[in-house]
Amino acid sequence: MNVEEPADLIFRPARQEDLDALVSLEKGCFQVPWSAASLASEFRSAREGGWPRVHVLLNKHEIIAYTVTALVLDELQLYRIGVDPSYRRQGLAKIMLSKLLAAAERVGAQTCTLEVREGNTAARKLYESLGFREVGRRRRYYQDNGEDAILLDWCKM
Ligand SMILES: CC(C)(COP(=O)(O)OP(=O)(O)OC[C@H]1O[C@@H](n2cnc3c(N)ncnc32)[C@H](O)[C@@H]1OP(=O)(O)O)[C@@H](O)C(=O)NCCC(=O)NCCS
Repeated sequence: MNVEEPADLIFRPARQEDLDALVSLEKGCFQVPWSAASLASEFRSAREGGWPRVHVLLNKHEIIAYTVTALVLDELQLYRIGVDPSYRRQGLAKIMLSKLLAAAERVGAQTCTLEVREGNTAARKLYESLGFREVGRRRRYYQDNGEDAILLDWCKM
């Protein structure tokens, strides 16, 4: 499906009522999806204070992308980014991450770090296009298939 007006996209912290949509997006995006309970615990962590851990991107009231992060001092740790499979290759992940990084910068983030599966070409190209650099590797990190994790970071200019 195509987003008709990218200017109309809404980026905001997730709310409790977004949980069902997030669970279904998570299942469509990851081979080892987080459970509803795991996602819900991210909302709880955010309620306990600090920066929101889950953000969403909406197109006409429909959640089409999300991120899960933690802001630790000046480092934004990116745990999850997912785009609805029917909305991919329209620049939405790039828009979502740009908005996320800008929002994190406003509250003091200087860097963003993440791990990505070695074979996840789409995600690796996405991060490269945003200026992330490879800074390490964890061998056989993913238990489901023994794939390596590539460590990336991005620094505020
Ligand atoms: C990775 C993911 C978030 C990208 O979302 P997206 O909205 O389709 O990405 P964008 O349209 O913003 O793409 C931005 C750039 O990333 C790269 N890219 C995205 N998807 C790609 C693909 N399937 N193959 C190759 N490059 C790809 C391209 O460089 C693209 O720029 P271009 O379209 O101008 O060539 C999406 O595929 C997804 O949700 N995957 C499953 C979850 C996942 O793997 N998350 C990352 C975990 S670390």
